Amino acid sequence: MKAYPIYLDHNATTPCHASVLDEMLPYFRTHFGNASSSHHPYGWIAEEAVETAREQVAELIGAQSKEIVFTSGATEANNLAIRGVAFAQKEKGNHLITLETEHSAVLDTMKALSQQGFEVSYLPVNADGTVSLELVKRTFRNNTILLAAMYANNETGLIHPVRELAALAREHGVLFFTDGVQAVGKIPVDVGESGMDLMSLSAHKMYGPKGVGALYLRKSKPHIPLEAQITGGGQETGRRSGTLNVPGIVGLGKAADLALNEFQEDANRLSALRDKLEAGLLEIEGSQINGSTDSRLPHVSNISFKGIPGKAFLIRINKFLAVSSGAACSSITDKPSHVLSAMGLDADTAMATLRFSLGKSTTDKVIEDAIAFVREVHKDLRYSSVSK
Ligand SMILES: Cc1ncc(COP(=O)(O)O)c(C=O)c1O
Repeated sequence: MKAYPIYLDHNATTPCHASVLDEMLPYFRTHFGNASSSHHPYGWIAEEAVETAREQVAELIGAQSKEIVFTSGATEANNLAIRGVAFAQKEKGNHLITLETEHSAVLDTMKALSQQGFEVSYLPVNADGTVSLELVKRTFRNNTILLAAMYANNETGLIHPVRELAALAREHGVLFFTDGVQAVGKIPVDVGESGMDLMSLSAHKMYGPKGVGALYLRKSKPHIPLEAQITGGGQETGRRSGTLNVPGIVGLGKAADLALNEFQEDANRLSALRDKLEAGLLEIEGSQINGSTDSRLPHVSNISFKGIPGKAFLIRINKFLAVSSGAACSSITDKPSHVLSAMGLDADTAMATLRFSLGKSTTDKVIEDAIAFVREVHKDLRYSSVSK
């Protein structure tokens, strides 16, 4: 047995790519300036690096560089988008719409807002994780100010029809925000073509460093009102104060550049490996893929194994295979995934579920070993639960 398990949990985080780290290193020591120090070369060099990164991020998502606001990650970007729009528009209305299957960075922010005078509609999803556009349409009210629906689900990989959702929101005079964390750098994302108003992204999900992300904020008319959530020195044109994390931002820029050049090749390779993994695991009795396979991220598979004790399964699996049963932040709890529950899975089946997310380091051999190991553990548990 290996000292470290095989890593198939790239939706939780990805390793920082060597070329990303190389790009970042000089900004810790040689070019350590504060990007806001506008009176000397230390500041100019840092500022130039930040602006280059802004262009790299913008290019990856089809935006203009002035539409990018750097943050400490997607959790902050989600907070800035949702709270920022809600508070800036509270005279206009107090109703927000989201999906039951959003990440906790969206759901918990909505929950907090509902304790501050806002009303939130949480839309249910179908058994395959999709949302009914008719239902979305029916949920808009005169006082609706924001529709928040993620681009791709972190647990199932399901890709939502963001273009249609953005169009519906626009028709109703409502802003559309999408959590783009799992989609950006994995599939083609073009904010202009999709028509979203705001989108969050995170460096560490695409081979960049942890603790840095960005919010895309559409600049063209109509103007998007946004109330800053962190005030202070007025960085990021007042939308997010705080000394910029220059090495992190440089890393995010390089990761965006890398993704632009490599995502298609990665997607082709990983979807073939994902199919191989699924073919191998679906031979297990009682196994099923969760989430629609019609429109899915190429590197994600969410599989339930009915009839075995979920917790024991995950503990045994994790000795050799780093996968999760849901989002990384909820894996530590004993509760079934809220995403799978919203899709109608019973608690036992939801607990006996593995989320596989493949990445650059995934090879044929990794997949073969993973299949063999899951089968072995499943057989053992199946045998012991039947023989009890
Ligand atoms: C869909 C989604 N949104 C937001 C986040 C939070 O991102 P960050 O770790 O950059 O705060 C994650 C990370 O798990 C995610 O998967």
